Amino acid sequence: MQTKIINCINNPLLQEAGEIIRQGGLVVFPTETVYGLGGDGTNAESAKKIYAAKGRPSDNPLIIHICEPQDAEEYAVTNDTYYKLARAFMPGPLTVVLPKKNTIPPETTGGLDSVAIRCPSHPVARGLIKAAGIPIAAPSANLSGKPSPTCAEHVIDDLSGRVDMIIDGGSCEIGLESTIVKLDGNRAIILRPGAITEDALRCVCDNVSVSKAVLEQLAEGERPLSPGMKYRHYAPSVPLVLLDGEEADILAFLKQEQAQKKCAILCYHEEMAELAPHDLFDIGQADSLETQANRLFSSLREADKKEVEIIYAHLPAKDGIGLALYNRMIRAAAHTVLKINGGTHGKKK
Ligand code: TXA
Ligand code: MG
Repeated sequence: MQTKIINCINNPLLQEAGEIIRQGGLVVFPTETVYGLGGDGTNAESAKKIYAAKGRPSDNPLIIHICEPQDAEEYAVTNDTYYKLARAFMPGPLTVVLPKKNTIPPETTGGLDSVAIRCPSHPVARGLIKAAGIPIAAPSANLSGKPSPTCAEHVIDDLSGRVDMIIDGGSCEIGLESTIVKLDGNRAIILRPGAITEDALRCVCDNVSVSKAVLEQLAEGERPLSPGMKYRHYAPSVPLVLLDGEEADILAFLKQEQAQKKCAILCYHEEMAELAPHDLFDIGQADSLETQANRLFSSLREADKKEVEIIYAHLPAKDGIGLALYNRMIRAAAHTVLKINGGTHGKKK
């Protein structure tokens, strides 16, 4: 298949992209979180094509992207809590899991009787949904197991020749996927943390909890509330090890490691001048979790291209968007954390 790549976001090209979706084809588009691999959310054949293009197991459900919160009525059973969340956070990086109506085929939701609904805020994503005139099912536009793409180059690396069109909208503003909550009456369970933080959700919803799979490794055979959480994600081809400890101790450890082996390091901006310059990736200031979130996936992709035997990164703090960062990093590292001088003993992290 020849993939058409467009970067001039004008109306006729979006109309063409919308037509591809209506005809059962696949279009990659930018959102405020990460790029999405879109197809017709109401068409079982489109869902199958999405799974095939991504190399994704077909029991891992897709998110349905709509323009306005009330458009969900056609596809899901909503409630008051959904509209409270919608008023506060939509359009934006929040996905809500609700009971499904049969306008969405089981292939789209991996056989589940619930459906994940999201209203993206990115103008190109919104323009595409409008041009298609149907809800767009879209997982992140990476090959299964790779970090989610935060710019068109990542998508081209993974999906060129596998989709009909890629719309290049530059870099994604947030860089981590949306927060997913599942509603059970007025209870909101966070299935995947993101830029809409636990504290922000608590301002709107009294009853918020975090699903166990977000922070912990599940036992063999234990089933997560979100099927995606059972798959190993974002795994680089060499081991990623997260370092827990005082910053000065970590810096000393990294210097020693650089002298002894070929390692790539996702380091804080402040450490750049202290470390040997090869295979270093500036992840942002130590206290800027938003920047770290924004750079994580592209840094992991770049580090993975280097000929190194190991990748090191800091174990992030778990507050605010740090919880999302922690969740992605701990899974990329297959829960490998090295405590330096006994770690921080929970003092800072
Ligand atoms: O920011 C995002 O959410 C991006 C952009 C493109 O919108 N999309 C995205 O989709 O990250 P994906 O498919 O890569 O991740 C969606 C996650 C998967 O882990 C899936 O298991 C979970 O959402 N999910 C989807 N529908 C679900 C449902 N009905 N119940 C529980 N989990 C669901
Ligand atoms: Mg994904």
